[in-house]
Parts: sequence; C-alpha cells; structure tokens
Amino acid sequence: MDSTIGSPEFADSFMVERLNEYGLAVRFQRAEGNKLYYVADDGTEVGVLDGVSGFGSLMFGHNNPEIVEHAKWVLDQQTPVHAQMGGYSYALNLATELNKIVRRELQTEDKFFAQFGNTGAEAVEIAIKHAELDRGIRIAGLKGGIEANIAQARAAVSEGATISEAAAAIAGGQDMDRLVAEVTRRNAETEARPAQFLALEGGFHGKLIASVQLTYNPGLRGPFRALAAQATFVPRDQPDMIAKVMEQDRAALLDLVVQDGVVDVVERDFPVFTAFLVEPIMGEAGIYPLTAEHAVALREACDTYGVPLIADEVQSGMGRSGTFLAGTQIGLKPDYIVLAKALGGGIAKLGVVLINEHIYHKPFEFIHSSTFAKDGFSTRIALKVLEMLEAEDGKAYKLAAERGAKAKATMEAIKADYPEIVKEIRGQGLMLGFEFHDQAGSASAKIREANETSVLPLRILGHLMRKHDFRIARTASGPWTMRFEPSIFLTDEEIATVDAAFRDVCEILRSEDVSRFV
Ligand code: F0G
Repeated sequence: MDSTIGSPEFADSFMVERLNEYGLAVRFQRAEGNKLYYVADDGTEVGVLDGVSGFGSLMFGHNNPEIVEHAKWVLDQQTPVHAQMGGYSYALNLATELNKIVRRELQTEDKFFAQFGNTGAEAVEIAIKHAELDRGIRIAGLKGGIEANIAQARAAVSEGATISEAAAAIAGGQDMDRLVAEVTRRNAETEARPAQFLALEGGFHGKLIASVQLTYNPGLRGPFRALAAQATFVPRDQPDMIAKVMEQDRAALLDLVVQDGVVDVVERDFPVFTAFLVEPIMGEAGIYPLTAEHAVALREACDTYGVPLIADEVQSGMGRSGTFLAGTQIGLKPDYIVLAKALGGGIAKLGVVLINEHIYHKPFEFIHSSTFAKDGFSTRIALKVLEMLEAEDGKAYKLAAERGAKAKATMEAIKADYPEIVKEIRGQGLMLGFEFHDQAGSASAKIREANETSVLPLRILGHLMRKHDFRIARTASGPWTMRFEPSIFLTDEEIATVDAAFRDVCEILRSEDVSRFV
C-alpha cells in the first residue's frame, strides 16, 4: 500500500494552498513524543517540535509507546468494538474511573452519570441536549402546578372567593374567566421564548450546528445563526456581569393562589437559560484562565436563576493544567463536565459528558446515542489514559505543572527582554499562550505594512517552522497569541528550542527587517 501522502486534489485544496504560502503545509510521515517528522528533499528525516499537539490532545505525546502497545493488545483481545444495545460495555468501567477522579477533585459524594460521544463538539451537544430536556421537564412541572392552582382558584371563586385588586387589574375586572384567559395568554408567550444559552465572550465550544452558536468567534458562528439556539455572551473579565445578564433576561410564569378567600396572582421563575457554558481555561480565545471570582459568581448566579453550569474541559481538562480538571484550581463546581481530546490518548476519538445525579434524567439514555459512542476500542484506550494519569500518585499532573511552569518562566524571560514585542504570557500548566503585541503600532513602516495584511503572524509561524523546526498555531480568536500545549514529556532541550525560536522572532521584529523572516 502506497504510504506517501497524496495531493489535495479532492480535499483541503484551499487549505493547503493557503498554508503553502507560508511554508506551513508539510507531509508529516511520522510522529513520536513532542515531534512530527517529515522527509526533506535530500531524503533526511526532519523532526519538528509540535507546539500544536492536537490542540491539547496529547498529554502523553504522539504515539505514546505504552498507549500504542495497549491499543494493539485491545485489538489482539478481539475486544468488541461494536456491541451496541448490549447494555454492558467498557464505557461503564470508564464512567466509574472518571467518577473516582472528578469526585475527588470536586470534593463531592455526588455521582456523575456519563454520556458518551465521539468528539468534543459532539460531547458539548450532548450536554446541551440533556440540559434542554431538563429545562423542558422543569417547565412542564411548572405548568402542571399552575394548571392545578388555576383549577383550585376557580373552585374557590365558585364558592365565593373574590379576585384581588392586582388580579382584577390583569383581568380587567372581577372576571375569573378573563383572568384565567389572560394568565394563560401571557404564560404561553413566555413559554414560546426560544431556548437561550449563556457563554463567555471569546468562548469556544465546537463547530457543530448547536455548539457553534456557543462559540463566540462571529466568523465561525455568523453564517449559521438561523440554525440553532443563540447564546448571550458575557464579558470574559467581568464576573459581576454574570448575575446582571441573568437578571436582565429574567422571566416568570403567572400563577393563581387562594389566600383567605381571595384569589391572587403570583410569579413563578421561568427557566429562561438552558445552560451556561464556560471553559475554566479559555483556549481559542487566546488562553485566558478563569479565576476563583468567576467560579463563585457563576455558581451563585446559576443557583439563584436555576441555570445549569457546564464546564467545558475539552481542552483544559485531562491534567493539562496540573490537575485533572482545570476548574479544580479555581473551585469551580459545575453541574456538567465535558471532556474529550486527550481522553483518547492521542490515538482514539471520544468525548464524554458527566452529568450530576441531581439533574440527570435516565430516559436520556434511550433518547441520545451514536453508532461509535462507547465503542470498545476508544473506551479501553481512555481507561489506559486515566490509569497513566493517576499512576504514581498523579505524577503526570505534577509533571504538567512543573514542565508548564518551566516553559512559562522561559517565556516570561523573553517578555522581560522584549517588552515592546511580547505583550503577555498566559496560562496554567501545559496550556500556555505567548502573545505578541499587535504590530500595527510598530515604528517601522515595513512592519506596519506587513501587519496590515494580517499575514505577519503567519509569516512568523512559517519562520518558526522553517528556521527552527518548531510548529505552533495561533488562536483563531486571538491572532497574535501562539498556543503552546505540548505533552508532559517536554524536555529542557525542547524548551530551549522554543526560547531560541521566539527570541529570534523578537529580534527580527525589533530590527524592523521583515525580510529576515525565512
Ligand atoms: N470545546 C473546547 C473548549 C475546545 O477547545 C474544542 C476544540 C471543542 C470543544 C470541540 O472539540 O474539535 O473535538 O469537536 N478545540 C480545538 C481548538 C478545535 O482549536 O482548540 P472537537
């Protein structure tokens, strides 16, 4: 079988064309550890330090030998990959192991029921589907209660009860039929409101039909607005706005109560928002860790207004921040936890949603499914990944923290030496962002010109690749932020490569001579 990677005649032709403009399109033939390898024109194999790392999927690096070995074993065992509707599967084992870890980190006895998918976005969509099912059940309960109260009020009036002033104002007089009709009409209006979500400005939650509307980037979300429920985006750096936004959109259903022979109208809070989605460390936005203040504001507001809190840990989770959940470090107490990416060990694909038992609806297990979810291969790989993360008293988490701190300190030193070039270093553990100043303000006309066509960041990426064999991606929402998310096996030598590469770029930008970019 021909092993060389073909031409983009029938896929990614535009993508390859654009990447080729900056020398970023490469036929990587091999991957191991933190490196991708291609064969140069002279036939030598070139290793490229991979700072993209599957957008955070590679806690144990490319083709980790232990995981690959395990994958071979799983297949050699003739593990049932497809055993749908058998009830029992290795997904049950995985759910058990995930509960052990998240209950420890969240310091809770609550159970979290697992629902499985195949990607991060799909896991997000499973979470919001369940949240909308939950909202519908809560609304039905409200309506049922109101209907029963209206019947009681009617019975009371037929036995001589009067209508309060406030109720008469709604009915236009002491007319029970008109009161009920008006209450019913207003409630129908409120119930007809479309489902709404809350998310943070800059948030990224996937690119599928529903999840893309929770992803802030207008370029990704805009063309598809008509297809799915919308989100209200709360400013990322204003935790106090969280409750205010919920208060602004507050809604209520009218209910009738009978007290001392008088029928009165009261309000019942209506669940306006299906859920609030947050990334404890915002990835696509440009690597912004949330704070303990966010965690408190979110929990309090979600409790006050009855909004389920979904922690999207697809990128920040799985130990990358130095703890299994990044939310642990800020005391975040979510109702849902979404995981994917690194859960597959760099070779399998799966996503999972953990749903707190207090809001979980078991019939959902027959409402949602997908052919490959809970498959025997991915779930047994994920079990191996959890075993490796938890081994030696969580050595992997400590490594993520230590290696990340060392890489971050190296980047901070570059910022200190080039304050006019490097704007900020952000992140936690091995989820780091290196932000250059937007060069629009450069003293150099050449830099400004290159910057204007917004290709300067791409020129930088190409230079890093071609000159330093270092591959990194900028965040789509933060074009000047380079996202560095390597495996826990990041070596001092690889950190030195990053140091030299970024310093070279800073020197070129400081020299104002963009022709030096190769
Ligand atoms: N949620 C978060 C926080 C993500 O970072 C991503 C993907 C998703 C959901 C969707 O997961 O790609 O498996 O469907 N982030 C990638 C990135 C695309 O560039 O950070 P997916």
